[in-house]
Amino acid sequence: MDEVHPPGQLGHGSRCVRADWTIRPVIRSGVTCNTSTILLIPTMFVNFTLNEGTVPIMSVRIAVIHYSSTGNVYRLATALADGAAEEGADVRLRKVRELAPEEAISSNPRWLAHRDAVAELPDATLDDLEWADGFAFGSPTRFGLPAAQLKQFLDQTGGLWARGVLADKVGTAFTSASTTHGGLEATILAINTVLYHWGSIVLPLGYTDDAIKATGNPYGSSWVSQKGSSPDDDALATARHQGRRLARVAAAVRSLRGDGH
Ligand SMILES: Cc1cc2nc3c(=O)[nH]c(=O)nc-3n(C[C@H](O)[C@H](O)[C@H](O)COP(=O)(O)O)c2cc1C
Repeated sequence: MDEVHPPGQLGHGSRCVRADWTIRPVIRSGVTCNTSTILLIPTMFVNFTLNEGTVPIMSVRIAVIHYSSTGNVYRLATALADGAAEEGADVRLRKVRELAPEEAISSNPRWLAHRDAVAELPDATLDDLEWADGFAFGSPTRFGLPAAQLKQFLDQTGGLWARGVLADKVGTAFTSASTTHGGLEATILAINTVLYHWGSIVLPLGYTDDAIKATGNPYGSSWVSQKGSSPDDDALATARHQGRRLARVAAAVRSLRGDGH
């Protein structure tokens, strides 16, 4: 039989707190709170039985922020966001603002088509970073570096950095290039450098999933777009795994920060 607890600390950061509704929480650990309390546990969410349905609370918040001109990084970003959502995360998929002149975009049909395809996708804001427990940043490799569009967004974070808002949150990076040795790792490492300055927890992929043995990049998910090809199933599976991993680690780190929302 489950233990039933009044409000108070249960250990490992879990505690029963007073709630405004009277539903009986069903907790994975087998610990149950009094009828007028809920259990806060340092995992991603707790499912409450409420009539027939379930109400997830305390979802970890993940912001997937990227730049993409011809769609490859966008496809990785979408897969990564899907992976985080599969873990129960509340996800914001955002693009950074385009800075390239109209004539450059119009001269490339793939760039033009992608710009139109994502017109409704919201632009990233600083609030997305403040809101998030974890963030993933994606950019095409441009001469071995992230695109200026992403850098421009990152360069606006001085105020958040000064307030320490970005410290102790989890960050990870991903990219696409057109050649195997064209700078995939260099781009990811360059993005990660910003995370060091913020005091964020840098999350690499390692070889933590079989899909990475096929894609072969432990730094972050990536795609080598030969002849303009789109990310294949292995690349997308790796990105999804990166999203799941980010959500899990960000949830664990949030519980250590103790500033749960
Ligand atoms: C200005 C520019 C610089 C690039 N530099 C590199 C590079 O250094 N190495 C590489 O392999 N590919 C390079 N590429 C190719 C892109 O990284 C590649 O096409 C990528 O898949 C584009 O991603 P997207 O479809 O998300 O825009 C470059 C492309 C452009 C337009």
